[in-house]
Amino acid sequence: MLPLVYHHLYEPGSDPNSPPLLLLHGTGGDEHDLLPLGRALSPGSALLSPRGNVSERGAPRFFARLGEGRFDPAEVTQRTHELADFIAAAAARHGLDRQQLIAVGFSNGANIAATLLQLRPESLAGAVLLRAMVVLDQPAPAGSLTGKRVLLASGTDDPIVPGDHPARLAALLRAGSATVSLHASPAGHGLAPSDIAAAKKFLT
Ligand code: MLT
Repeated sequence: MLPLVYHHLYEPGSDPNSPPLLLLHGTGGDEHDLLPLGRALSPGSALLSPRGNVSERGAPRFFARLGEGRFDPAEVTQRTHELADFIAAAAARHGLDRQQLIAVGFSNGANIAATLLQLRPESLAGAVLLRAMVVLDQPAPAGSLTGKRVLLASGTDDPIVPGDHPARLAALLRAGSATVSLHASPAGHGLAPSDIAAAKKFLT
């Protein structure tokens, strides 16, 4: 079995009909950050919450950043495979079904959830991408995301995610036949109540 190379928290679920959630925090967060959000979005779900293993001057992230919105595709690819391998190992250890697992990612965590869908689609059943941008500008392989559902929630006044990125990312995921819904809140990079409502609806 692969080693569990991420610090992480695992909370067992109480409702077998609620999908297990993979919680992926934003830059500077940790494995505790999104637990309240996960519990609020889907109260009976099992929660798997890793801490990003890349440090940006002490701030945990899931892959490196060369500058705002600038990334090294080779490094992002390597980190994405590391996280996918962790998910496989953690799913085996905790008895989670990756075919039910939904990622809930914010900002940098949403970005690596998107690259997981592009590069390692077997890792997830779908994703709630909160404030995601295009990181790997490559379409998902044809048919690789058939049956997977994605909610892409953006902020109309987001100073970090360029305005055309949600639609571009949706197109990259739809190339693999994912079912993608777009939700735009009148908000910045931080979450608004309508993001939570849209994510909750998506998960039920
Ligand atoms: C990223 O670097 O993944 C994005 O800029 C989001 C962020 O972490 O601020």
